[in-house]
Amino acid sequence: MTSRTFMQNYRQNYPLKLPHILQDLVSLDLEQDLNESGEEDRRIHEIFRNLTKQPVVRFKNAKNVVHKPLRVGVVLSGGPAPGGHNVIAGLFEALQKLHKQSKLFGFLNGPSGIIKNNFIELQSKQVEEFFNQGGFDLIGSGRTKIETSEQFQAAANTMKTLNLDGLVIVGGDDSNTNAALLADYFIAQNIETKVVGVPKTIDGDLKNRFIETSFGFDTATKVYSETIGNILRDCLSQKKYYFFVKLMGRSASHIALECALQTQPNMTLIGEEIAAHKLTLQGITEQITDLVCSRARHGKDYGVILVPEGIIEFIPEMNKLIKELNAFPPVQSNAMCDVSVPEVLSIDAKKCFKLIPKEIQVQMLLDRDPHGNVRVSQIETERLLISTVESELRKRADAGLYKGKFSPQPLFCGYEGRASFPTNFDCQYCYALGYVAALLIDRGCTGYMSCVNNLIQSVDNWRIAGVPLTSMIHIEERLGIKKPVIKKALVDLKGPTFSYFQNLRQSWVLEDDYRYPGPIQFFGPKDVTDIVTMTLYLESQSTPKGIQKSPQESLLS
Ligand code: FBP
Repeated sequence: MTSRTFMQNYRQNYPLKLPHILQDLVSLDLEQDLNESGEEDRRIHEIFRNLTKQPVVRFKNAKNVVHKPLRVGVVLSGGPAPGGHNVIAGLFEALQKLHKQSKLFGFLNGPSGIIKNNFIELQSKQVEEFFNQGGFDLIGSGRTKIETSEQFQAAANTMKTLNLDGLVIVGGDDSNTNAALLADYFIAQNIETKVVGVPKTIDGDLKNRFIETSFGFDTATKVYSETIGNILRDCLSQKKYYFFVKLMGRSASHIALECALQTQPNMTLIGEEIAAHKLTLQGITEQITDLVCSRARHGKDYGVILVPEGIIEFIPEMNKLIKELNAFPPVQSNAMCDVSVPEVLSIDAKKCFKLIPKEIQVQMLLDRDPHGNVRVSQIETERLLISTVESELRKRADAGLYKGKFSPQPLFCGYEGRASFPTNFDCQYCYALGYVAALLIDRGCTGYMSCVNNLIQSVDNWRIAGVPLTSMIHIEERLGIKKPVIKKALVDLKGPTFSYFQNLRQSWVLEDDYRYPGPIQFFGPKDVTDIVTMTLYLESQSTPKGIQKSPQESLLS
């Protein structure tokens, strides 16, 4: 073992609780809720012929429940999210409790580990060392998709070779769609392996009527909110900079919205709102410039603006430009000083391209992903907006409409939030998700998502369920092809979180009503260590019954 900090040790020894229902694990048996099945979409049934009409499953205490030793594989898929190691710990511990001779195998570096049959058998000492720790480094992660028929066959061979009773796929919307496809395929091939998914992603966009939140969102937004709070204080102390803070989140703006509610900066862009109002890059630039000008009139040449990473694809003409660039091969040149507008582009796309600063033009022309697409997540949107606002301010200054001083500073909050020590909430949530995944496999469920609900209540009162993955799947067109996918949950502009933000944001433009959440607290009073996100709290308020006071309530009053 490499050297460890005191914090690693303290965290490792931090005791977790289990929801009441999971405390007597060995006596739990299935209770099918036939009234609670997913939607009946004929097209989904045609694709998942072996997973039709599956009910939501819950658990009840029963007598003489028999358990056999289980052999289970686990894989971490996609970007890291704090808490992943606790899913593994919960899974490992639950399998041991269900039967002492059970074994857990970790596929290495994501789904490619399944294809290549690259795994380690996990031992209790290793799992313990990673208990309550950040990152995904115990077994690694990766973005390989199991897509081709050869890859499906290779996955099936791995299941047979290892003689697995179960496979747990910890991932986002795409990985869990894959979990459903694998579950269906294994049944068709007479392979006994049951496939269960676990909802992961810091982006917070894997949620629906069954899943209250994906794990990792709580920690990542708290890490970013700490940084934003510190930046706001610096801003107020020196009163000389405009900070443009880009926040991770591939498409949806949930992260930015949550951080806005936690810290109350002067402006927060929301991608879904930009798309709904068909705001152009010029329109967004003018909104920010208006804010800078009106603050300057009040003697304030400073401020903080949050920019979600994903907005780029919500700006209609940027979206068009990216799609047109994707259709053509990358420019074969690295001449930074020789970027001309590509002739192949349409008039609108050319107009948009010309608004973009040179470095970003170069990035879009040269830097492509393995499929030849522009790397949208690498576009420095914060710098792009700084540059367009600067030029708009110059125009206004020339017209005598602006007399302030604009000193912008770009900042990106991203990868550090994905591997941070998980909050108490994510530690507990993931541990319980691991337990439920073990239970679902033990009870023979395949094509299910491990679900833990009632999350704004104390851990004791959390509820558990298995939800058929097919009930979350719909048909979507991706790159011109109709595909079954788990629907990404974007920010709902009529939902409680956005509405709450909408009611407050105008007052934040001029008043510096900043909030400073400070660093994540692991030890101490519960109202600083165990507080849930505003998003989870506000969204839970719209659920009808059984809500008790949460610490978050004091924030809202
Ligand atoms: P997942 O959806 O796999 O959880 O990843 C989300 C994310 O963290 C996004 O917020 C970000 O756009 C992306 O990963 C960056 O991915 P990469 O590691 O490939 O740079």
